[in-house]
Amino acid sequence: MGSSGGIRGLRRRVSRLLLLLLLAASTGGPTARAREAQPLPEAAAAGTRRAPERHGLSLDFYAKTCPAVDQIVANVTAARYRDFPAAGPAVLRLFHHDCFVEGCDASILIAPTASASPKVERDMEENKNLAQEAFDAVELAKAAVESRCPGVVSCADVLALATRDYVQQAGGPYYAVKKGRKDSRVSLAGKVRGSLPRANSTVDELLRVFAGKGLGAADLVALSGAHTVGFTHCVHVLGRIYDFRGTRRPDPLMDARLVKALRMSCPSSGGSARVVVPFDVSTPFQFDHAYYANLQARLGLLGSDQALFLDPRTRPLVQELAGNKTRFFQAFVASMDRMGAIRIKKGRKGEVRKVCSQHLLPPV
Ligand SMILES: *[C@@H]1O[C@H](CO)[C@@H](O)[C@H](O)[C@H]1NC(C)=O
Ligand SMILES: *[C@@H]1O[C@H](CO)[C@@H](O)[C@H](O)[C@H]1NC(C)=O
Ligand SMILES: *[C@@H]1O[C@H](CO)[C@@H](O)[C@H](O)[C@H]1NC(C)=O
Repeated sequence: MGSSGGIRGLRRRVSRLLLLLLLAASTGGPTARAREAQPLPEAAAAGTRRAPERHGLSLDFYAKTCPAVDQIVANVTAARYRDFPAAGPAVLRLFHHDCFVEGCDASILIAPTASASPKVERDMEENKNLAQEAFDAVELAKAAVESRCPGVVSCADVLALATRDYVQQAGGPYYAVKKGRKDSRVSLAGKVRGSLPRANSTVDELLRVFAGKGLGAADLVALSGAHTVGFTHCVHVLGRIYDFRGTRRPDPLMDARLVKALRMSCPSSGGSARVVVPFDVSTPFQFDHAYYANLQARLGLLGSDQALFLDPRTRPLVQELAGNKTRFFQAFVASMDRMGAIRIKKGRKGEVRKVCSQHLLPPV
C-alpha cells in the first residue's frame, strides 16, 4: 500500500464507499433483507471429507530448541500491525497461497530471480499482487527468531504463527498453532495453476480445488470468512459491476447500492491499478462474522464470495456462521488447523532457511 501505509491511508481510500453503504444500511436495507433470507431445507452441504494426515505437527515441537518462538513472533507481529495493519490480511492471504500450492512449506516466499528461469511460485499471475508488506512481515519475524534460535525454526512455521497473530490482532480468535513444518527445497511456478481459488470461481470449482487439498465444503465456507478483513483490487470486481457475463449490465445478484458505491471507486476503464475495495463492506478492519451476513444481503464483493450463499450446498453453512460469531470462530480455527497441515515436509524432504526468500542450498 506504498506511501499511504497504515490504517489511515486505507480508511481514506474506502471512506467514500463505506459512507455510502452506511447511509444505505441505516435505511434498513441489508440487515432487514438478511433477516428475510429463507433457510433452505437440509442440503448435503458438509460433504465427505478425508482428514489430511497430520504428519506429526505438534504444539511443543520447539520446546527444547526455541521455547519462546510463539512469543518472539508475536512481539514482532504486534508492532508490525500497529504500523502496517494492511499486513494482517496480506499475511493471511500469503499463508493460504502457500498451503494450497504444494503444501505449507514457505515455497511462496522464495524470491524471483533475475534470470529467466527457473520461475518460482511468486512469478505467477495468481501471486503477483500478494502484498510486499506480507513478505516483509514474515521476514522480520523470522529475523527475530533467528537472532534467538539460529537455524532451528522453519519459515513455514513462522508464517503459520504470524498468521495466527494477525487474526487475533484484528479481533479474531486466538488459537494454538502446531509446528514442525520444514521449508521446501524448491518453488516452482508450474505448480500454481489450478491450485488456488479465483475471484470468479464457481462453487463447483471451489469445492474441487479444496477437495484437492483434503478440505471440504465446511472448510471452504469457514476459510472464506477470512474475507472479513482485507481488500482487493478493482480488476476483480469490474466484471460484476459493469459487464456481468457480457450483458453490459451489473451482476443482478449484487445489491444495487453496492454496485453504485463500487463504481465510484472503480471506473470501468482507466482507473488506478492501486485502488482497493474491502471484501467486508460493513466492518472491513474487524475480524468478525459480518462477511456472512453481507453474503445474505447480496453484499458479497467477489463472485466467488456471493456464490457461497447462492449454492444450496454451501448456503446452510453461510447461514449458520452468519448467525453465530462463536460458531464462526470455532469453525475458522478448526479449518485453519486443517489447512496448516496440508502436505507438510519433514526431514530431508525439506530445509530450514535462514532468510525466507532464499533457499539454504541451491534447489535440487
Ligand atoms: C516481547 O516483548 C516484551 C515487551 O517488549 C519483552 O519484555 C519480552 O522479553 C519480549 N519477548 C520475547 C520472547 O521476545
Ligand atoms: C475468470 O477469470 C479469468 C481471469 O482471471 C478468466 O480467464 C476466466 O475466463 C474467467 N472465468 C469465467 C467463468 O468467467
Ligand atoms: C453459538 O455457537 C456456540 C458454539 O457452537 C454454541 O455454544 C452457542 O449455543 C451458539 N449460540 C446460539 C445463540 O445459537
